[in-house]
Amino acid sequence: MPRGRRRRGYPRGMPTADERREELKAVYRQASVCTRCPQLASTRQTVVFGSGNADADLMFVGEAPGANEDKQGVPFVGQAGKLLEQLLNEIGLQRSDVFIANVLKCRPPGNRDPLPQEIDNCQDYLFRQLELIEPRVVCTLGNFSTKLLRADPSTGITRLHGREEVRVIGPRAVRLFPIYHPAAALYTRSLLDTLRADFARLPDLLALDPPRQPEPPEPEPIMEEPELVEEIEEAREEPSESQLGLF
Ligand code: URA
Repeated sequence: MPRGRRRRGYPRGMPTADERREELKAVYRQASVCTRCPQLASTRQTVVFGSGNADADLMFVGEAPGANEDKQGVPFVGQAGKLLEQLLNEIGLQRSDVFIANVLKCRPPGNRDPLPQEIDNCQDYLFRQLELIEPRVVCTLGNFSTKLLRADPSTGITRLHGREEVRVIGPRAVRLFPIYHPAAALYTRSLLDTLRADFARLPDLLALDPPRQPEPPEPEPIMEEPELVEEIEEAREEPSESQLGLF
């Protein structure tokens, strides 16, 4: 494709895993210089894009990076991350089998809750990740990711945890499986038991046939996108992709 031109979408079913991974890297380079949330952009150390297998069947979506994640540029590396990893190991999976991301890619100062405007600013990155990784099962961790991906701000995790449902998110249908956030389970023993029991259902969900996909949209024409190209050009020399783990 000539420089300065960029295909905006693939005909459904067309992109290979390699093409999707390359596109994911482009989204990462774009996110790594994002300033859509001026406060977060000025207080963060790193943009925590997400990490893991770019072609994973199982994707986890947490809330936002904490202090450790902000330092290291990798999601779930603190205490909650250790618990997540332990629970994964208990069902025979490694971190490298899955992709882990968050609703927000930047740490809210003082670990405050994400603001609605920040979620709004950041959600395109998550939706692109879901579209490009093509997971079959998406496990939302806690309220923020559950509410965002179910597009229902009024139903919380206490009611929804452990209940699988097929949801169309962007162009794809996935099995959405809300569970408690591991950070909550660190402090409450009964939540840990519930989280472990919900986790134990993941192998069965992964063994199900993939959900039926909606009819593909018409392929979009090739279009000039000067702003986006410039943003990606600018970002080309940005931080190393080793932060992404397995690309
Ligand atoms: N909690 C989250 O929601 N995400 C992280 O990356 C770490 C802790």
